[in-house]
Amino acid sequence: MTIKINSDEDIAQMRIAGRLASEVLDYITPHIQPGITTKQIDMLCAEVMEKQGTKSACLGYQPPGMTPYPAYVCTSVNHVVCHGIPNDKPLKKGDVVNVDVTIITPEGYFGDNSRMFVIGEGTIAGKRLCQLTFEAMWHGIVQVKNGAHLGDIGHAIQKFAEGQGLSVVREYCGHGIGKVFHDEPQVLHYGRPGTGVELKTGMIFTIEPMLNLGKKDIKDLGNDGWTVITKDHSLSAQWEVEVVVTDTGYEVLTWSEGSPTPPSFVTSIKC
Ligand code: MF3
Ligand code: CO
Ligand code: CO
Repeated sequence: MTIKINSDEDIAQMRIAGRLASEVLDYITPHIQPGITTKQIDMLCAEVMEKQGTKSACLGYQPPGMTPYPAYVCTSVNHVVCHGIPNDKPLKKGDVVNVDVTIITPEGYFGDNSRMFVIGEGTIAGKRLCQLTFEAMWHGIVQVKNGAHLGDIGHAIQKFAEGQGLSVVREYCGHGIGKVFHDEPQVLHYGRPGTGVELKTGMIFTIEPMLNLGKKDIKDLGNDGWTVITKDHSLSAQWEVEVVVTDTGYEVLTWSEGSPTPPSFVTSIKC
């Protein structure tokens, strides 16, 4: 397995791609209100991409054995774990939805990120799951540093999540990214400290934990070839960022004005 070490030029291009992907989420944020459909969210995202001059990496994406993905973004509501396909059902108060945006810049670099949105005031359980999943992601991010190991990231996320009584989905992981959408390495959201690939300055990958309120088990919804749900139908949440490894820590590449403020234990988005 070879993991790409990005040049300064690649990193500069990935900073642009990451910001553009994050700005798609900034733009849709005020629109995510009770009554909007996930199809409308998809169209809003498509409009921003058009204005940016970027393209959706999801539309038509077809891993081996899959049908081509049919929309611009993924919208995963409530017990949908990931890869929810936008549809015509209006979101209602108390729903939680993940919007996962992946764009490609004209230069061919990928920007991949997602956030959770709570519809209306939200429920105690829904708000708690979204907030704790955000914190879990950041517990992973702050492990990133030249010389650390991928297992340090997974362990930090798993320890925090399970400490809160949440479960970590095993079947999906973060991934290397650059001019390729899903590249080496696989970034597991569980694991043991000091194990796995050693991080080197210039590596770029996503961290994108999916946490469930109930059990970790998932299944395919079964009717569209993409939608994944929790087996016990409990709520599921996910956040995603891209980071580049630096000598002294990390830099979050999917950063824009509207990015949610990191938890208080985080000193910087770049260190
Ligand atoms: N954006 C997802 C990820 O984080 C992948 C979505 S693939 C799609 O890796 F085809 F479902 F859009
Ligand atoms: Co990703
Ligand atoms: Co994504």
